[in-house]
Amino acid sequence: MIRLKELESWLQDLQDFETPKVALEQYQTPPHIAAHIAHTIQASFGDLEGKLVADLGCGCGMLTVAAAIMGTATVVGFDIDSDALKTCKENLEELEITAAELVQAEVRQLGVSCSRFTKLFDTVLLNPSFGTKCNQGTDLEFVQVALELSHGPVYSLHKTSTRAHIIKTASRWGVNVQVLAKLRYDLPNTYKFHKKKSVDIEVDFIKFTVNCHIVVEDFIKPCPHRSTVPSKWAKLDVKHMEMLDGSNQTNRQTALSGDFA
Ligand SMILES: C[S@@+](CC[C@H](N)C(=O)[O-])C[C@H]1O[C@@H](n2cnc3c(N)ncnc32)[C@H](O)[C@@H]1O
Repeated sequence: MIRLKELESWLQDLQDFETPKVALEQYQTPPHIAAHIAHTIQASFGDLEGKLVADLGCGCGMLTVAAAIMGTATVVGFDIDSDALKTCKENLEELEITAAELVQAEVRQLGVSCSRFTKLFDTVLLNPSFGTKCNQGTDLEFVQVALELSHGPVYSLHKTSTRAHIIKTASRWGVNVQVLAKLRYDLPNTYKFHKKKSVDIEVDFIKFTVNCHIVVEDFIKPCPHRSTVPSKWAKLDVKHMEMLDGSNQTNRQTALSGDFA
C-alpha cells in the first residue's frame, strides 16, 4: 500500500477550481485531509482497493484521485458542474489514471428512484457542501443518496457542530454512524466576501453503514441490491468519460442513461 506521505505529495499538485462557484460551495478538500481519509478507508477497513467506488460532488477530483491511487477497480466521480469536471478530467489525465469515469449529474436526483446506480457501488465517499444558512441540510441529502447508491459503507465529512443532528437523523434512518476522526479543516478564502485569509472549522470524518434490521419510514425507496460491476467498466479509461453539458434536463437524462448499461 502506498505510504500516506507519498499519497499526499501526489495530491498536492492537483489543479483547484479555477473560478469557484459560491452557490455550489466549491472548495477543494485540502490534500493532507484527502490523503488521511483515503489512507484510513483502505488501511483500516479495506474499502478502496479493488472496489467500485463513487465520489459524489467530486469537484476537481481530490477524493476521486486519492481513491484511485489507493487502488480502486474503478472510481466514478459525479458533479453537477461541467467546469469542475473538466478540471477533474485534466487531473486524472495528468496522473495517467485510467480506471475512472466522470458523470455530470445533480446528485440529489440520482437517488430519487431505482436507477442504474442504485446499490451498484461497493463504497461511496463524499465531501458534500456543508450547507449554508440558505441551504441547510444539503450534506445529509447527499448522504441519503450515497446510502442509496452504495451496498457498502459511505464515508463523508460534516461540520462537527452538526454531529448531534447527524447522529439523530441517521438513527431515524436505521443507519449506524461512526465518527472516525475530528479534523481541523482549513477553509481557504475562496470568495471575495470572505474577510479572513482562511478559517479553521472542525469537521467530522464519518462512516455510515446501513443497519439492515431497522425499517426506515422516510428513507429513499429501497431497491434490490445490485453488486455486480458491469463488465464494460473494467475497460473504461479517461478517454471514455462522459462530459455532457448538463444545462438542461434532456442532457442530464442522457448523462444518466448513457454508457452505463
Ligand atoms: C465542497 S466541494 C468538494 C469537491 C471535491 N469533492 C473535493 O473534495 O475537493 C462540493 C462539490 O459538490 C458539487 N455540487 C454541489 N451541489 C451539487 C449537486 N446538487 N449535485 C452535484 N454536485 C454538486 C460542487 O460543484 C462541488 O464540486
